[in-house]
Amino acid sequence: MSPRRRSVVTGVGARLPERVVTNDELSERVDTSDSWIRERTGIRQRHIAAEGELTSDLAVAAARQALERAGRRPGEIDLVLVATSTPDNTFPATATAVQRKLGTGPAMALDLQAVCAGYVYALTTAEALLRCGRARRALVIGAETFSRILDWEDRATCVLFGDGAGALVIEAEEGTGTVLDRGILAAALSADGRHYGHLYVDGGPSSTGTVGHLRMNGREVFRHAVAALVASARETCGELGIAPGEVDWFVPHQANRRIIEAVAKRLEIPEERVVMTVDRHANTSAASIPLALECAWSEGRLRRGDLVLASAIGGGFAWGSVLLRW
Ligand code: ACO
Repeated sequence: MSPRRRSVVTGVGARLPERVVTNDELSERVDTSDSWIRERTGIRQRHIAAEGELTSDLAVAAARQALERAGRRPGEIDLVLVATSTPDNTFPATATAVQRKLGTGPAMALDLQAVCAGYVYALTTAEALLRCGRARRALVIGAETFSRILDWEDRATCVLFGDGAGALVIEAEEGTGTVLDRGILAAALSADGRHYGHLYVDGGPSSTGTVGHLRMNGREVFRHAVAALVASARETCGELGIAPGEVDWFVPHQANRRIIEAVAKRLEIPEERVVMTVDRHANTSAASIPLALECAWSEGRLRRGDLVLASAIGGGFAWGSVLLRW
């Protein structure tokens, strides 16, 4: 193997809005129950942003924590990448709002929109920019305020989502080119627009001129999610000649406990190596993977040198996986 530039995680941060909404509280608003939600999804509660608390506010708080843990100042960052489907405004990019609030100074800044797959897409994109030398230190943030695009009258969707943000600082370092290197080691991304109508928002600047609300065919999403996540995890691990069951941690997108369990079972990854936060956070779309990473890290479970497989799927459908050594 020849030396290779790796994108190594040096800091992780998270932010959840203060307000916690339980299933019982939701059942006062729509015809649902704590037991229905728990049984079907594993969700117990979600965090919901306060009025005036924007996606960029959550992103900035998560980014500050990640920077502090990386021992970096905002001015040392030359790429800000925000994965989000709930930007502050249609434009400019929420990444530029983050940049302004953080004071990174001039840096590359962009948003990436791949819904729930946004974070694996963003990490893969940032890794490519670091590898080719366009940037050296990146803030890769997943931040969402899905509460703003939910139809709070629709019990089939409003119980599933929450708000939050997670961030990683990743830095270019020379590696040996082997599987023992720290950093992002492999990735696979995919999308299939034939499924556009199974999970979408019924508004947008060029269609209705409104923000719109999330609409979903839950059964179709479930069916495709399991098959796509399994295939993508296998493809990514296959790049390194390992089986998914050999990773230290599986950090899937946190949409639904049943999807996660079905995928882990097929991949032969034991339960104790699966990071599960859907019970506490619900589905925070692009923020769910970095939030889960932060939980595992701050609880002392995820350690330097651990092999981590992150996999996600969302609207489009778009999906993918990233394999990295922490
Ligand atoms: N409370 C009580 N009853 C409900 C609720 C609710 N919150 N929501 C739906 N129901 C009812 C339905 O109206 C239906 O009633 P009916 O039989 O009288 O018509 C019944 O429950 C069954 O509805 P289904 O949609 O068939 O329920 P299902 O068992 O498929 O579970 C769920 C729904 C949880 C959404 C499931 O399909 C699922 O997990 N899908 C995956 C979707 C997902 O995770 N999406 C997240 C976004 S996508 C992503 O991030 C990958």
